[in-house]
Amino acid sequence: MPVFVNEKTKEFHLTNDAVSYIFCVMDHLWQLEHLYYGKKIRHRPSFRHLTERKKHGASANRLEGNHTSSLEYIKQEYPSYGTTDFRYPAFEIRDTIGSRIADFRYQGYQLKKGKPTLKGLPAVYVEDDNEADTLEIYLFDHVLEMQLILSYTIYAGCNVLTRHAVFTNRGRRHVYLNEAMSASVDFPDDHFEMVTLHGAWARENHVQVKPLAKGVQSVSSARGASSHQFNPFLALKRPEATERSGEVYGFSFVYSGNFLARAEVDNFQVTRVMMGINPFQFRWKLNPGETFVTPECVMVYSDQGLNGMSQTYHHLYRERLVRGVWRDKTRPVLFNSWEATYFKFDEEKILTLAKEAKNLGIELFVLDDGWFGNRNNDKSSLGDWTANLEKLPEGIKGLSEKIEALGMKFGLWFEPEMVNKDSDLYRRHPDWVIATPNRPMSHGRNQYVLDFSRDEVVETLFQAMCETIGSSKISYMKWDMNRNITEVFSRAWPKNQQGEVFHRYILGVYKLYEKLIEHFPAILFESCASGGGRFDPGMLYYAPQTWASDDTDAAERLKIQYGTSFVYPLSSIGSHVSAVPNHQAGRITPLHTRANVAYFGTFGYELDITLLSKDEKAVIRKQTAFFKEKRALIQFGRFYRLESPFESGQAAWMVVSADQKEALAGCYQMYARPNAPFSRIRLQGLDAGRLYQVDGYQETVYGDELMHAGLLLTESMLSSKKRPGDYASRLFSIRAVPD
Ligand code: GLA
Repeated sequence: MPVFVNEKTKEFHLTNDAVSYIFCVMDHLWQLEHLYYGKKIRHRPSFRHLTERKKHGASANRLEGNHTSSLEYIKQEYPSYGTTDFRYPAFEIRDTIGSRIADFRYQGYQLKKGKPTLKGLPAVYVEDDNEADTLEIYLFDHVLEMQLILSYTIYAGCNVLTRHAVFTNRGRRHVYLNEAMSASVDFPDDHFEMVTLHGAWARENHVQVKPLAKGVQSVSSARGASSHQFNPFLALKRPEATERSGEVYGFSFVYSGNFLARAEVDNFQVTRVMMGINPFQFRWKLNPGETFVTPECVMVYSDQGLNGMSQTYHHLYRERLVRGVWRDKTRPVLFNSWEATYFKFDEEKILTLAKEAKNLGIELFVLDDGWFGNRNNDKSSLGDWTANLEKLPEGIKGLSEKIEALGMKFGLWFEPEMVNKDSDLYRRHPDWVIATPNRPMSHGRNQYVLDFSRDEVVETLFQAMCETIGSSKISYMKWDMNRNITEVFSRAWPKNQQGEVFHRYILGVYKLYEKLIEHFPAILFESCASGGGRFDPGMLYYAPQTWASDDTDAAERLKIQYGTSFVYPLSSIGSHVSAVPNHQAGRITPLHTRANVAYFGTFGYELDITLLSKDEKAVIRKQTAFFKEKRALIQFGRFYRLESPFESGQAAWMVVSADQKEALAGCYQMYARPNAPFSRIRLQGLDAGRLYQVDGYQETVYGDELMHAGLLLTESMLSSKKRPGDYASRLFSIRAVPD
């Protein structure tokens, strides 16, 4: 029974084998008080002894004659500002008289088996109602005449709690929601470090860990996308927690637009964590009878370090966020044409590349940007999704059929949300772009953002895309998005609803995705936003994989993929082998290292393979065969980060199969170190009592040896050459053998 409700004391205990989350209704105030979140504790008839009440000097109090009723000193579930709590609130509503004070009081609750969906929004799900239980708490503000439902879902089999809030206007006048966060947790102490993923174009998801300080610390986006700059994720870890052990609380936001993830430490060491739509630039008009649903926050508790947290996210997102036929299928080895040809190609060149790709064991050929309108550079044609017949005389239909005839699948690039001024779509509908009247319109890569808050825009794009997809043999689609939103304003919405445009835009993106998925359920979607500019759980609900970065350099990718793996499963991380010198970093890395990094994701190639030597082609043939043999293990195994590329010149990670009979470890060394010391990589996740054979080692070894004594790694193991040089790497295949 994962949700205990004590009707008499009005207490709620959500629990499973691993975690407990407890709150109650405050006496007299009828608001919700947070009591505990962390490792499972046994259930008991009452947890009221966990409430904290004392008289604080110079405090404001809610109850007359009572000096211990200051909300500033009571841990809350979904706090509001201005009724004795002065910290940042979880929501703010402006009513008709201009007041922003609220007082939502407990009315009741409802328990549901399973997990209801969130209308129009991505969310994790259940396949069977026994997988989770949902508790809905009903609150009401009589002055605002509004209902608030706080929804909590606890999964039975993993340390996951999801939360979101639902506001309904039950009154006769409209109100404005100025802020509506998805979750808020008041932790009783601040003995934490905050872990976030930050970056920029071509260096996404770098890991940042810093001690919590008094005051507010946050990451956010106000770009109209979750962003390259900060991932919609935050974790609090105990300072002593490592990758392998210790307590970590993860917060991940299932949303692709503007977000805020904030930790506020008050002067009594209380840490308030919040996650939701960024209130900056947000204001939602809620008319009588209307409802606003916040996106979902997924909270993970781990007492097994950062790896424990990540593995829970991987499992949940891989199995209960990603949908459709591709969820449980291994992903094809793909070839992407972008770094091979950029805009310069014709059908002959594409077919030559495709034949070569087929020879090398590649299964899916993806034609990237440049196939439509007059698209010979980035100045024109976005919005005109019909084939350029000068480049492709038989259109996408003809090309896709020829590629399928070679025995490969065919995939195509789109950037549906964008338009160039030099396009038929813009000439027809110049008012369909997001732009503020009487102000200059900023561009990004010479392109402008279509107003996806408008249904007719979404519908037009859908029809245009359907025409090409429906008439051709398309098995994969890459959905790109290459700039952020500026001068935000929609001509379709009145002046008092302009604060809704960012959110409505993302809802429009989700709508188009949903329609395409419905129409073309067999297509494998990959999302992309100049690489990882929108790598978030919201996107994974629609597209099972995301192009992690435009940076394909193996050394840079180690960091990017390492950071990305904090939240996202390997089956979602788009990773390719590209040419050297690398097009972004100018770096030269060995071919095997490029593959050894790219294997840990959804593997592919992105270079002009016709320029390769015979020897290189032979190596690639082996690589694709190797990956096909290992991809089920890689994409569905349990992933462990072993050594961080952010901490030393060495990095290591591994995957282990569910039955612990098979594993694959990747070890990487940035710079050659002559006369280097021995190093031992302590593996993880193996069966301690089982005997294993490790590639390259004569002796068989037990799991406990590999995990505690470690895998001995010498320079010579990293390369067959006498001197391995920089960017050396080595994979170790590990197999259980009879004792
Ligand atoms: C973005 C993507 C690349 C490629 C180009 C095409 O930069 O991230 O992978 O598709 O656009 O213009």
